[in-house]
Amino acid sequence: MSVTAILSALPEEQHGLIEQLVDPVRIVRAGREFWRGERQGQPVVLALSRVGKVAAATTATTLIEAFGVSRVVFTGVAGGVGPGVQVGDVVLATGFVQHDMDASPLFPRYEIPLSGRANWPCDDSLSALLLKAAHQGLTGAEGEFASHARYGNAQIHSGMIATGDQFVCSASAALQLVNDLTVAGMPPLAVEMEGAAVAQVCADYGVPFAAVRTISDRADDQAHVDFPAFVAEVASPYARAIVHQLMDLLSLQ
Ligand code: ADE
Repeated sequence: MSVTAILSALPEEQHGLIEQLVDPVRIVRAGREFWRGERQGQPVVLALSRVGKVAAATTATTLIEAFGVSRVVFTGVAGGVGPGVQVGDVVLATGFVQHDMDASPLFPRYEIPLSGRANWPCDDSLSALLLKAAHQGLTGAEGEFASHARYGNAQIHSGMIATGDQFVCSASAALQLVNDLTVAGMPPLAVEMEGAAVAQVCADYGVPFAAVRTISDRADDQAHVDFPAFVAEVASPYARAIVHQLMDLLSLQ
């Protein structure tokens, strides 16, 4: 049976998922903790990407090489940079770009040298399921988001997410990043620090990847205040609701 990897960046985002595993087994590999078990009758492995592209690539590679996972799903938080992408909203990634990759003039800006690409698309069918799971988590009877009144009008957006080894926390830096990526034809809705690395590893191995990010801040001068508050307060209920719905949908396949 296909093994699903559920990746989170931070322990706060993973909180509650381990407790929901049936027959959990803790395995340490590459200095990381992995939790193997079952959810809704299906095998899953939970892992923390940790923060930044190298850490995330190591976790993704280990999930594939050591645990033989057949799909990777990332749920976490991100800074909203797209128009109308507000704190509490959800962004389903259609693809990822590394906003800090620049080997020009040897290669076009953003292109990963020798890969011929800058845009790392997510898997269409897995993303469609994840989008449905996010909708059901947000609006369904079991929608845990509903209990967070502050985010009662949460919207779900689909689009590019930009990844870099940088916590973006100034309105001018965010604007520059959006403008430059828009000129390059990849306008981002959100920024974070891991997704493009996982997307690249998954593409190298031919493993389907999909990601959903809840907006914790606007990547502006207030981001350093909004981010920790959001992560502590609501990141894990969002992740739990989405994962619950996704595993239901996968079990119907
Ligand atoms: N993850 C959440 N918010 C972020 C931000 N502003 N920059 C980078 N990664 C983030």
